[in-house]
Amino acid sequence: MKTVSTFQRLKDNNEKIAMLTAYDYSTAQVLDKAEIDGILVGDSLAMVALGYKDTYNITIDEMLIFIKAVARGAKNSFIIGDMPFMSYNLSVEQGLENAGKMIKAGANAVKLEGCNEHILNLVKRCVESGIPVLGHLGFTPQLMNTIGGHKIQGKTADNIELILDSSKKLEKAGCFGIVLELMPAESAKYITENLKIPTIGIGGGKYCSGQIVVTDDIIGKFTDFTPKFIKKYANIHDAVLLGVNAYKKEVKEGLFPSAQESFELNKEEKSKLKC
Ligand code: KIV
Repeated sequence: MKTVSTFQRLKDNNEKIAMLTAYDYSTAQVLDKAEIDGILVGDSLAMVALGYKDTYNITIDEMLIFIKAVARGAKNSFIIGDMPFMSYNLSVEQGLENAGKMIKAGANAVKLEGCNEHILNLVKRCVESGIPVLGHLGFTPQLMNTIGGHKIQGKTADNIELILDSSKKLEKAGCFGIVLELMPAESAKYITENLKIPTIGIGGGKYCSGQIVVTDDIIGKFTDFTPKFIKKYANIHDAVLLGVNAYKKEVKEGLFPSAQESFELNKEEKSKLKC
């Protein structure tokens, strides 16, 4: 059974942390079977599962539907609910209430992007209330409009120090880990080495304490775009297309369903039919 302590234990034992995203019941079942260290119900589902162009449009109520599905599928996993845009930005009370909804839906922790006084207060209140929090720094998709696009972070010494400073503040506020997105491997290494809590990289190189990626990216299911940091371990899109085309051909040719996939009517009953 994975818990919040699993993350610190793995970091302290110099073991890498392997995390993935899941948005639905059956994917969650597979990740649970693989004993993945943490499952993030990421707001990336806005793009990957719902077809939006970014993460801005997903709401807390929609996120709860996906968290519930994942929680039903992944009974032994540590599930983290990603707080969507504007579900925690208005006030600590709003953030705490929505974080609580995620826990009631089946998440074991929440993830928040960024670091400012408001976020730090919210992290403290969540942790005090029994809600573990995973931070998220570097490239933070919910701040894409102010960042000015998908820009690699931590490219200068000043910016790396800034991210480290924010990471330390999040650590002090009670975060159990920090996602470091889109930065040079050496930058993430420097930050990781100067923190007690684990870092989870996504496009952050091999020196982070662990890694997270979008499952649909690494299994080749989501194909709209593939970030440079993605390695494909399967090609689900092509496998599904192959199956769908074979099904279509057999339906058109009258080969599906065959007797094996059909139910037989009892001969006696058949003979009683009037026309
Ligand atoms: O929404 C998401 O999937 C994320 C990543 C860190 C994987 O935030």
